[in-house]
Amino acid sequence: MASLTIRKLDDALKQRLRLRAAQNGRSMEDEARTILRSAAAGADVRAEAAGKPRARRNAAAQPAPTPSGGPLADAKRVLLIIGGGIAAYKSLDLVRRLKERGATVRCVLTRAAQEFITPLAAGALAGSRAFTDLFDATTELDVGHIRLARETDLVVVAPATADLLAKMAGGHADDLASAVLLATDRPVLIAPAMNPHMWQHAATRRNLAHLVADGIAVVGPNAGEMAEAGEAGTGRMAEPLEIAAVVEQFLGTAGGERTLAGKRVIVTSGPTHEPIDPVRYIANRSSGKQGHAIAAAAAAAGAEVTLVSGPVNLPDPIGVKTIKVETAQDMLAAVSKALPADVGVFAAAVADWRVDKPTARKIKKQDGGTPKLGLIENPDILASVARKATGRPRLVIGFAAETDRIIEHAREKLARKGCDWIVANDVSPASGVMGGDRNTVQLVTEHGVESWPPQSKDEVARALVARIAAALAGASR
Ligand SMILES: Cc1cc2nc3c(=O)[nH]c(=O)nc-3n(C[C@H](O)[C@H](O)[C@H](O)COP(=O)(O)O)c2cc1C
Repeated sequence: MASLTIRKLDDALKQRLRLRAAQNGRSMEDEARTILRSAAAGADVRAEAAGKPRARRNAAAQPAPTPSGGPLADAKRVLLIIGGGIAAYKSLDLVRRLKERGATVRCVLTRAAQEFITPLAAGALAGSRAFTDLFDATTELDVGHIRLARETDLVVVAPATADLLAKMAGGHADDLASAVLLATDRPVLIAPAMNPHMWQHAATRRNLAHLVADGIAVVGPNAGEMAEAGEAGTGRMAEPLEIAAVVEQFLGTAGGERTLAGKRVIVTSGPTHEPIDPVRYIANRSSGKQGHAIAAAAAAAGAEVTLVSGPVNLPDPIGVKTIKVETAQDMLAAVSKALPADVGVFAAAVADWRVDKPTARKIKKQDGGTPKLGLIENPDILASVARKATGRPRLVIGFAAETDRIIEHAREKLARKGCDWIVANDVSPASGVMGGDRNTVQLVTEHGVESWPPQSKDEVARALVARIAAALAGASR
């Protein structure tokens, strides 16, 4: 009979065998015998067919099971971190809502969360064991907390307690939840829930501002009655359906492939406001929907995205670092600070001019007739980045919002600004593009003009991100 010498196995196989053996409390030889025996008997196959869990294994090391369907199918993975608040019971429902949508869910419970719900309930609903302990001898053999942090498409913290917000903002890592949050490179969505006084406290405001600046997305909290008798205000966790909808919105647009992983992308979006006096400004009708959609699509494709946004009425995209500015000058400063990047997408409708002498006090009607406004030219953000001698992004993309002779103007802009591509669109009032949800664009490059079909701004964003990924991967620009 042939013999098998473990010493002669390749290193990777030896390592896996060592891990399995340690987890199962066997010698490597015994583990190899067990594997062979069970393979011969087809034990794994029968166990799976019967829906039984496999022998004790490192669940964090296993590939996530593929969900059966729903809008989040294609194996969208959510890591749900449950904090120690009354709203933890709602997170059990959130697990169900996410699973209904086809997501694969893994749960991490803080120690305090286990005062409110059990790991057994969370694990049973999620369909895989819940994780609670950073120093778990089984899962940490191969640094399970790092695997938990990475083997997911989105991390959701619900309820996000005041304490978890503070830990996240401070970069703590003294338990499994905070260690995973510090180790993850995936987008994070938090659903805060706490007493209204805790929510309003200066420390919580500071922590939240830090987290938002770090690109953490927030859903809720809502206003209403609190669990504490007689307390009402803002602090209730967003409902599971609301949280699931935000998750769906993000993961549903992710397209699955992380085609821009490891790339840095800067996107500008929205209008700029150029002050006349402290209360009046010059603006334009840009809603920011297209720029925000591009930032979201790039983040969903795995890019590290900085969105420099003028004043808009839109939520910050998930997984994106959003910097809010008012004027063209502020926008240029924020873009310069965000460089270097692999790609710059300049979708903002930056005011061409600003008032030369904005007043510090409100201009009064009786101050003497109609005020005369002098205008001066604003910095050209697109051209200044595209023409950078050093540190120019590999791909610089401008937008041309035109009302007539669209291609002609776009071609001229491509040459004048020195950028690589221009996304040209018709913003005449009849097109409904400004503020609307659909867009009909033409991509102008040195190779020619592509007319894209009318589609939603999200679809334009995804198509543009796919083109960007192809260009960075070496296909022609
Ligand atoms: C009954 C009860 C309810 C609580 N509810 C909340 C809450 O809703 N939000 C919160 O931030 N803290 C709440 N706390 C306090 C947290 O449990 C406490 O700060 C804990 O340390 C949080 O731990 P964690 O952030 O690791 O989950 C509550 C405490 C108790 C005893």
